[in-house]
Amino acid sequence: MQYIVTGGAGFVGSHLVDNLISKKSDVIVIDDLSTGKYVNSKSKFVKFDLRRPVSLSMPKGAGIFHLAANPNVRESMQDTQEHFDRDVKATFNVMEMARKADCQFVIFLSTSAVYGDPKRMPSKESDPVAPISNYAHFKLIGEGLLEFYARAYGLKTVSLRMANIIGKRSDHGVIVDFKKKLSHNPDILELLGDGTQKKSYIYISDAIDAITVAARKSRAGYSVLNVGSTDNISVREIAAILEKKMGLHPKHIFKDAGGGRGWKGDVKLMQLDISRIKALGWKPKFNSKQSVERAVDDILSD
Ligand SMILES: NC(=O)c1ccc[n+]([C@@H]2O[C@H](COP(=O)([O-])OP(=O)(O)OC[C@H]3O[C@@H](n4cnc5c(N)ncnc54)[C@H](O)[C@@H]3O)[C@@H](O)[C@H]2O)c1
Repeated sequence: MQYIVTGGAGFVGSHLVDNLISKKSDVIVIDDLSTGKYVNSKSKFVKFDLRRPVSLSMPKGAGIFHLAANPNVRESMQDTQEHFDRDVKATFNVMEMARKADCQFVIFLSTSAVYGDPKRMPSKESDPVAPISNYAHFKLIGEGLLEFYARAYGLKTVSLRMANIIGKRSDHGVIVDFKKKLSHNPDILELLGDGTQKKSYIYISDAIDAITVAARKSRAGYSVLNVGSTDNISVREIAAILEKKMGLHPKHIFKDAGGGRGWKGDVKLMQLDISRIKALGWKPKFNSKQSVERAVDDILSD
């Protein structure tokens, strides 16, 4: 089986590529290296910016994992054109590539942030979506493209609404931010928001298993699946885990963007109902706290 992984040099993509290659699959990585830096030497690497229509000749019938994006939620509220191009235009170009190459499936990494501030938790896939950041809004437009290409062209497409993915090689997110700040000044830690934000975290190996299960087990046509742990953890608890492992007792200061949010577009509470993907045979091995503990160890040993 041949696979194409867009964004395969990034944090999640590089782990996915390693996993596929360990199962002896042929993998083509498409990445413009705008932020990605992990190129598996056993993959075929194509440096290409997906903001442009794909002019490359791609194998017929491959499975596509579409991960290329700019995942910076905070910046998406200012750099709107940059995010539209990397998150929507690139997704359109990938879907056109999929249609022309008659691909076997397209798995799209969407986000739990499409629910916005949920009316009830855990959020189900059938619940209303109301994004509060451009990042999440653009992912939702991407989901619309996947749904349309399944309906109009008969492709098998899946949108995975991922919780926060953490682990080795991650270069963004709360743990990385705290580690950088504490390395710079071990006496003071600035928390974005009031620190009570509670979200679901998933360890990278669980995320990769979920992505490959979705590719193998999801039905024909279009599916939407939540992927996360069944609990959540607060920003203050994450800080406490990191501080304990670093042996530090910093004073906390808070930078509140309003209503206790860390930035404009920050979702304060997030937890997902994962019964749909569980029915396909996947469940996380680690809860949010265990995921954070493992990711902290990974990041401290980097
Ligand atoms: N990390 C998370 O917590 C999380 C949660 C939910 C969803 N996601 C989604 O998962 C995917 C991977 O996230 P990540 O954390 O690994 O991000 P990342 O930034 O590490 O990886 C993204 C990759 O895409 C590449 N890329 C960006 N624009 C491109 C373009 N126009 N053409 C070709 N390549 C391009 C980058 O160089 C990078 O290698 C993203 O779509 C992200 O939105 C991530």
